[in-house]
Formats: sequence, structure tokens, C-alpha cells
Amino acid sequence: MKASVNAITIRDLRREFDVKSSLFGKSKHITAVDGVSLSVPFGSVFGIVGGSGCGKSTLARVILGLLRPTSGEVLIDDMQLSDLDRRARASLIQPVFQDPYSSLNPRQSIRNIVALPLTSQGNVAASDIIRRVDEMLERVGIAVSMAHRRPAELSGGQRQRVAIARALVLRPRIVVCDEPTSALDVSVQAQILNLLAELRRELGLTYVFISHNLAVVQHIADCVAVMYLGRLVEAGETEQLFAEPRHPYTQALLASVLTPEPGLGVPDVGLGNTSADPSNIPAGCRFHPRCRIAESRCRVEQPQPRFGANGGTVECHLASGTWSESSNAMIGGKLVC
Ligand SMILES: Nc1ncnc2c1ncn2[C@@H]1O[C@H](COP(=O)(O)OP(=O)(O)O)[C@@H](O)[C@H]1O
Ligand code: SF4
Ligand SMILES: [Mg+2]
Repeated sequence: MKASVNAITIRDLRREFDVKSSLFGKSKHITAVDGVSLSVPFGSVFGIVGGSGCGKSTLARVILGLLRPTSGEVLIDDMQLSDLDRRARASLIQPVFQDPYSSLNPRQSIRNIVALPLTSQGNVAASDIIRRVDEMLERVGIAVSMAHRRPAELSGGQRQRVAIARALVLRPRIVVCDEPTSALDVSVQAQILNLLAELRRELGLTYVFISHNLAVVQHIADCVAVMYLGRLVEAGETEQLFAEPRHPYTQALLASVLTPEPGLGVPDVGLGNTSADPSNIPAGCRFHPRCRIAESRCRVEQPQPRFGANGGTVECHLASGTWSESSNAMIGGKLVC
């Protein structure tokens, strides 16, 4: 059988929500993910960045099979996600979430927490479970002598190590990390990032790595996609994208990190005060109310993805560089990271 190249393939994925805004209020229709297509090759780290509420966690939850898509397709290792049962999914793809405290059962010991994915499989011998759990705890830097402790007795960093051990104990090939360091003290963030990078090398993992923090994604990802109001507005190889951002939103995000004087307050990067509202997506280019260079057609015509020879893609009528309208690269195709 031919081994598949792509760990994850997503085609034209949408996820909508209907939310009641108040007890007697009208319900709001939210488009959290709006036509996302991408491929993640095995062995790579695919970063997703974007502001709060742009749909990153919704996308993560759909990829993990925790939420059904409204429409579109998700393939994991070339298999339809919807055809995989819970056990098959768990041994292929696992999550690491932002807040290790709320994702770990406070009443269970660390050993039991990490063992749960193994016990849920139902066919692993008890002695094997203990051996595999202890091995994984040591691998993530938690001494086995701590295995009887409960999550409240650990620091934030140690709890995230336990969450990582739990994600890896079934030896999945793919891990979806949704803001895995965002709840941690700055001093601990680098340790956890380094651990994730080391585990990826040792175990040959594929990561989808989600963060609102560009510096974090730049550090770990081979490829980066920038998300705005439910769409991937730009994607490409990390070095290339950071060196030559093409989309005005990516440029504004980068400018906001590069502001040299933190004491000067919130930098003016041209994004204005309007915030993006997924229940009221602007016509034309959804970024046009905040875009510095918008012209009249941006208000009526939605830009389609355009593809660069280097594997990058951008959705902007005015993006500089040489682009083609046909997909030769990341979206719906292959991306060499
Ligand atoms: N379960 C849900 N029910 C209703 N709305 C949701 C749900 N999950 C997310 N949303 C909405 O979808 C949008 C995207 O949210 P989310 O995916 O969490 O964004 P991000 O992770 O980028 O901050 C937000 O407007 C959020 O309120
Ligand atoms: S399509 Fe127009 S509004 Fe949208 S990002 Fe490009 S220039 Fe700005
Ligand atoms: Mg989120």
C-alpha cells in the first residue's frame, strides 16, 4: 500500500454556529470557519496564527473530530475523518489544549490521567499500561516518583507536561496544539516549546500548532497560515512569510510585534478600532474595513486564493509578487516545507 504524504487534508471546510445573544434576543448566525482548505505533510509543523475569535480553535476541534463540520471535507492520513471511530481517531491524532488545569481531571492521579487514553482502548494489559505511562512521564520530564500526585500539586508547566504525556501515550502520529503555551508564565513557555520541538524530532510527529503569538509560531513552525474571520488569508513557508508578508493583515500583525518601545502603548499598525465580527462578515474582502490600501473593488469582490511558485498562497486583490490563479501548492496540493 502506498504511504500517504499528507497527515491532514482539508477541503473547503465551513463551520457555522447559531447563538442566542440573550434570553429574548434574536439568535446570531456565526461563520467561524469559512471555506478553509489546506494540506499538512507528515513530519511538518503547520502553524496557524490569527487574532482572538478568528476561528482557530473551531478549526482545531473540527480536525480533532470534536465538532462536526457544517460542510467540507477532512482527511486524516488520507482517510475520511467521519469514517474513523473514536478509538481509531485517538490513536492517530491527539490534542494539547491551552489550559492544562481545566483539561486535567483534578480528582485523578497523574498516572491515571496519562493512562486514560490507553485504558479507553480496552485491549492493553495493565502491566503494559503502567510501563508505557511511566516511560512517557519520564520522557516529558516528570519524575515517576510524582505519578501519584494530583494536578493541583503541580506547577502550570508540569501540568502542561502531563497533558503532553497524555496526548502522546498512544503514540499518535499527529498532535493538534491549541495555544499550548499561552496560559503559562513567560519563563516556562520556552521550556514547553523546546520540549514539543524535541518530542517532534524524537517521535517523528506532525503538529498543527495554533497560537495568537507570531513569535511562538515563527520559532516552531515549518509553514504558517494566517487566519482572519474564518479564512486563511495568507500561507507559506515560515521564513518566507515572515521575511516577505504579502497580505496587509499579515503585514499589520508583524508590524505590531516589531514595535520597538513597549512603553509607548498599543502600536498603531493601521488596524483601527473596528474589531472583526464573525456574525457580520463584510462583503467583498472581509478585511476591507481595516485595510489601509483597500480600493473600491475590495468592498464588493471577494479575493480568491492566488498561488506563488514557492508554495505560498494569498487572498488579496493587490498582493505584490507573481501569482497564479491555479493551485500548484499548499491549498489543495502539496507544500514542500
Ligand atoms: N460552541 C460554540 N458555540 C457558538 N459559538 C462558538 C462556539 N465555538 C466558537 N464559537 C464562536 O466562533 C468564533 C470563533 O471562535 P474560536 O474558534 O474559539 O476562535 P479563536 O480560537 O481564534 O479565538 C467566535 O465568534 C466564537 O464566539
Ligand atoms: S483585497 Fe483589498 S481590502 Fe482585502 S486585503 Fe487586499 S487590498 Fe486590502
Ligand atoms: Mg482559541
